[in-house]
Amino acid sequence: MKSGKLGFFVVLLLLSSSTCLAWFGSSKHKTSTANEQSSSSSSSSSSPSFLNRFRSGSSVVFPVHGNVYPVGFYNVTLNIGNPPRPYFLDIDTGSDLTWLQCDAPCSRCSQTPHPLYRPSNDLVPCRHPLCASVHQTDNYDCEVQHQCDYEVEYADFYSSLGVLVNDVYVLNFTNGVQLKVRMGLGCGYDQIFPESSYHPVDGMLGLGRGKSSLISQLSSQGLVRNVVGHCLSAQGGGYIFFGDVYDSSRLAWTPMSSNDHKHYSAGPAELVFGGKKTGFGNLLAVFDTGSSYTYFNSNTYQALISWLTKELAGKPIQEAPEDQTLPLCWSGKRPFRSVYDVKKYFKPIAFSFPGCGRTKAQFEIPPEAYLIISNMGNVCLGILNGSEVGMEDLNLIGDISMLDKVMVFDNEKQLIGWAPTDCNRVPKSRDISI
Ligand SMILES: *[C@@H]1O[C@H](CO)[C@@H](O)[C@H](O)[C@H]1NC(C)=O
Ligand SMILES: *[C@@H]1O[C@H](CO)[C@@H](O)[C@H](O)[C@H]1NC(C)=O
Ligand SMILES: *[C@@H]1O[C@H](CO)[C@@H](O)[C@H](O)[C@H]1NC(C)=O
Repeated sequence: MKSGKLGFFVVLLLLSSSTCLAWFGSSKHKTSTANEQSSSSSSSSSSPSFLNRFRSGSSVVFPVHGNVYPVGFYNVTLNIGNPPRPYFLDIDTGSDLTWLQCDAPCSRCSQTPHPLYRPSNDLVPCRHPLCASVHQTDNYDCEVQHQCDYEVEYADFYSSLGVLVNDVYVLNFTNGVQLKVRMGLGCGYDQIFPESSYHPVDGMLGLGRGKSSLISQLSSQGLVRNVVGHCLSAQGGGYIFFGDVYDSSRLAWTPMSSNDHKHYSAGPAELVFGGKKTGFGNLLAVFDTGSSYTYFNSNTYQALISWLTKELAGKPIQEAPEDQTLPLCWSGKRPFRSVYDVKKYFKPIAFSFPGCGRTKAQFEIPPEAYLIISNMGNVCLGILNGSEVGMEDLNLIGDISMLDKVMVFDNEKQLIGWAPTDCNRVPKSRDISI
């Protein structure tokens, strides 16, 4: 890959989807109770009754910075430690563990925007659920019992090695309460990254389905529902959120795949080109902000290329092999300035997912969510051949294809939802609903 990052993933089992019955059976979420909370600041030691009241309808929203091209990733600022210090973190819904490049001391760290994190001395012990969750099997070994070593590897051969510690995260809840929440994170003192995946960040924000992910830890403390979402703007920036902040009736919903507990995946989906079914069915798709671009498996990619070639015949654009921005670029008579200059030559793509009930949940990918304009003024295809990076049968929906949509991953109802939205409007006020 030339640019962008590919999130962490493992080989998936066969797909079988759950139903939406739980969804229909439950009442609509409540949003108002927590707003009655009037204190503006408090510590995390709270009585159960406070927690119950607090949890219903509470949420946290972070603005994000970055874009698909040319930056190649999105980051948020988190305040961690005692005293809290700011860190820029790459957001990754394709992996679980949050970690910071760390002065333990550091044997291999990249240049970071902020001074390296100095770890707290509150180590996560070896026999702890958090430690178990960062290991593939239950019978893992630790060199010393009071310490949990971890190693995470990402699909683009980026890796981080370190120890798990607990430390304080400062979180502003949308009801005006600021909490210092103690949660686990990785102190990464040995990172390996290929040149192509170097990002100027202090660490990674893991938002996957596993126990160690920030959203799982937050919800296990009863602070928010186990729901994470994002809205990435095509103009750059946007926001991520934890908890209940959306109007569920506005979204299309599909069940999460029940055999893959690590990733936000769904299916079986059928691919639709320009409004027509392609016959490519039984597709499994993973939603992953850790990847800038979208990847199709070999067969599906082949079909896409054939369809595009046919569609573009006779149109005033030509393949531009000299542009190496991405594997497939086209040039026009004059350089393009925006995807809107070429949108008329391209048609939308869609994944037709199982919905709740009989209707399908259509995940539309309009041309602006699969094309970029390179710095040479050519238009390039932001859907890549997953087989070239060893993804086998998986299809991966990266940042580019989730632009200008609110995406919601509800781990309690096991549902993935989306709706077209203006992601430039970062919700700020109390009583928000996205
Ligand atoms: C990361 O986010 C911060 C603000 O949160 C921003 O100042 C910085 O430019 C971002 N980094 C990149 C590479 O976009
Ligand atoms: C949280 O709220 C405080 C006080 O209102 C503010 O100073 C701070 O910038 C906020 N932090 C974030 C990450 O929004
Ligand atoms: C996709 O990648 C695989 C593995 O490298 C290759 O065999 C196949 O020809 C590629 N497909 C296309 C359409 O380029």
